[in-house]
Parts: sequence; structure tokens; C-alpha cells
Amino acid sequence: MPDPTTVTFPPAFLWGAATSAYQIEGAVREGGRTPSIWDTFSHTPGRTADGDHGDLAVDHYHRYREDVALIAELGLTAYRFSVSWPRVQPTGRGPAVQAGLDFYRRLVDELLANGIRPALTLYHWDLPQELEDAGGWPERDTAYRFAEYAHLVGEALGDRVEQWTTLNEPWCSAFLGYASGVHAPGRTDPAASLRAAHHLNLGHGLATSALRSVLPPHTSVAVSLNSAVVRPASDCAADLAAARKIDDLANGVFHGPILHGAYPETLFAATSTVTDWSCVRDGDLALIQQPLDALGLNYYTPALVEAAGPAPSGPRADGHGVSAHSPWPGADDVAFLQSPGDRTEMGWTIDPSGLYDLLTRYAGEAPGLPLYVTENGAAYDDKPDSEGYVHDPERIAYLHGHLAAVRRAMADGADVRGYYLWSLMDNFEWAYGYGKRFGAVYVDYATLARTPKSSARWYGRAARTGSLPTPEAD
Ligand code: FCB
Repeated sequence: MPDPTTVTFPPAFLWGAATSAYQIEGAVREGGRTPSIWDTFSHTPGRTADGDHGDLAVDHYHRYREDVALIAELGLTAYRFSVSWPRVQPTGRGPAVQAGLDFYRRLVDELLANGIRPALTLYHWDLPQELEDAGGWPERDTAYRFAEYAHLVGEALGDRVEQWTTLNEPWCSAFLGYASGVHAPGRTDPAASLRAAHHLNLGHGLATSALRSVLPPHTSVAVSLNSAVVRPASDCAADLAAARKIDDLANGVFHGPILHGAYPETLFAATSTVTDWSCVRDGDLALIQQPLDALGLNYYTPALVEAAGPAPSGPRADGHGVSAHSPWPGADDVAFLQSPGDRTEMGWTIDPSGLYDLLTRYAGEAPGLPLYVTENGAAYDDKPDSEGYVHDPERIAYLHGHLAAVRRAMADGADVRGYYLWSLMDNFEWAYGYGKRFGAVYVDYATLARTPKSSARWYGRAARTGSLPTPEAD
């Protein structure tokens, strides 16, 4: 008799791992690639831990065959990667560079030859520096440039990639990039960050239309949002209002226009001292609200908030870096508290129920739209033992808890089609550099040797059997 406690997934469920271009590729000067905002930012003193940058990263550009072989050996069925915009269209304008497209063609062909489904993200934060010099995402033209780039990539790879994602986590691009400044391009201008959010939405809509015009009909187009799970510290009216404000600034600002064709009125009210939203032109919302085939949700930890007086000045950690500037325009009267419970190496509280809440919420808000968990995972201070094995039982427990939450959400009606572990391998963790290891595969940064951690083997067993081994089965 099957063990009733075994968590089992449907056979078609995708078991994936995720990465992004700047975090793994290296080869920043090869094949005509020009700098992105992340090259500039990471080479600016004081911006990243230890001055780390992605010049070499984990050299995936040269080792992609080895990396695909690893994915195949583990038994995973899908791989989510991103295309580096400045590798494909170096100035952000004009024709594509053949060498750039060829790299991604080779990667995709290698995946397909190994029976692994490629899931391509067009934008995981590496804006060509030339476009930032022209104003970046706060400028409307960047949205049109993004659509042109989407068209180029769609034309080149549409014959072999079935799963497309426009943007990864536009919240980070807009608010960490232009408000708190802990991510590239490192600007601290709240009004510009809200314009960036709108132009990212517009870019998503225009890129979706551009992709539709070149992709075969069976391909899927989606967006990946790091939708926050916002919990009020109490149910008093002031804390509920604080949670509502953060929910609008984290979720409503993207889900509103993308899924429902409107920004929440409460968002306009909350940000009225920062901007009049005159960047939203007639017709924009119709351009943004394009029919989608799926919705990607990235989840790591919930947010716990309460009403507060004006925030104390001075640098504060926001989970992605330290800045004296808030990533939440118009929300100086909201305080973020540490959620109770164990934390990962990022200081992020482990709470699988947040993933359940997120999936069931969007199953309700976007009925009929298939959902994917496009990122979920944990950083730990992993080290090889004397025999070279890397044991990471905490990561196994994290994955087990979150995958079980996914399965519960499915049982309660959420149409979740797949899960992508962040990340396939240790890599450049943005402002934290190489100090934070999210990989299921360990990377020795001195030799670039890859060693699957015990979590990679555990996850591979889950993928091969379609059910979760006990967390102890390492
Ligand atoms: C997400 C990013 C991803 C990685 C994880 C830890 O916000 O999309 O690149 O940095 O966090």
C-alpha cells in the first residue's frame, strides 16, 4: 500500500532549476557583448560585497555543456535561464549579433538533446548600459527597445523554445535599481522608480505582442513576478492599512495592469506625494494587459509589516542589500519586522505557508491561468567535507517544506505546472557577490569545479520519482 504521507506530483509536473545570465555566464567581453548596468555597477567601488563582479562568474558561457550534462544526470526535466540583452543586441538598438544568438541556440539544442525543456527569460536585470545612459527604465523609450529585443530573440529561437518569460521580478528592477539603489543601476530617485515600474509593465506588454507576432502558436508567454506575501503585525486598522500599502507597491503595481488592466486606486493614493503618474498615457493599460499563457511566481520569504512613524534615517538592510534609501516609495510610515522562525543565510525567514498563500491567492485572482513557481530556494554556508561531499540538510528541509506547500496548494485548486529551484549552482548573488550560495550544485570558485550537494541528489530523486523523498533520505 502506498504510504499516505508520501507527497506525489502529477506525471506532467516540471522539475526544474533556474539561473540567470549575469549570475553565471562570465565571458563579458566575448562575441561582441557590451557592458550591462550590472557590469558597470559591480565594477563601481562599494557596490557589491568584496567588489565581486560577473566577469568570470562560473564561466557557464564556456562550460554550458558540462552544466547541461549535470541537469540531465540529476534527472531534472526543465531548465530556466535568461538571455543577456547586451550579448544579443549590444547597444540595445539595431540588429542582433549572430555570435550572441548562436550561444543561446547551442545551449537550447544541448538541452533539447538531453530531453530538458528550456524556459527562456528575456530580462533578468542586465539592461545594456547604453540604454541606461539614455535614461534607463524611467524613460518610456526603454519599453519600446525591450519589445524590439524580444522580437529579435523570438525570431531566432522561437522554433526551439516553447516557454517564454518577458521579465524576471520587475519589482527588483524598479525599486532596488532606482529607489533603494542596492541593485544596478544604483539610483535613489523614488519618482523615477515608479516611472520605471510603469515602463517595465509597458515593456512586458509590448514584448508579449512582439513575441506573439513571431512565435509559433503553441508557445507559452509568461512573466515572473516576485509577488510578496505581506502579513500585518496585528489586525488593527493601521497595520492592515500598512499591509495594504506594501501589497499595492509589491503586487498591485504589476499584477494590476498586467492581469487586470488597471493600477489599484489605493496605489495612486499611497504614492501621490511621490508622483502624479503622468507617465501613464492613454492606451497604455490596453497595451500592458496582454493575454498570457502562464504566470511565474518567485517566492523566498514573507514580509511582516506594521504602521510606524517616519522611518529612522541611516542605512537599513532590506533583504537584498543595505541602503539609506527605502525601496518602498510613499511608504515611510510602514515598518518591516523580522518574521518569526528559522532563517536562511540571507536572513530570510523560512515559511512554506507563504508559498501556499501566494499560489492559492493567484489561482483565485487569475482563474484558468497555469502557475509556475519560477524561483524558490535558500542560501546556506555550504562547505565540502574532508572527502569532498557537500551535505546541506537545511536546504533539503527547505525544499521539502516548500514543495509540500506547492502540492497542498494544488490539492486546493491551484493549477501549478512546475517548480524551478533557485539555483542550479552557486553563483553571483548580486550585491552579495559570491558570499551567498543558493546552488543545489556546489561551485569551487578557485577551480570552478561543480559538485552536486546532497540537496541536488535529493531533488533529482524527487524529479525522477515524481514524489518527495523524506528529508532525511540524503
Ligand atoms: C531573486 C532573483 C535571483 C536570485 C534570487 C536569490 O530575487 O531573481 O536572481 O538572486 O533572488
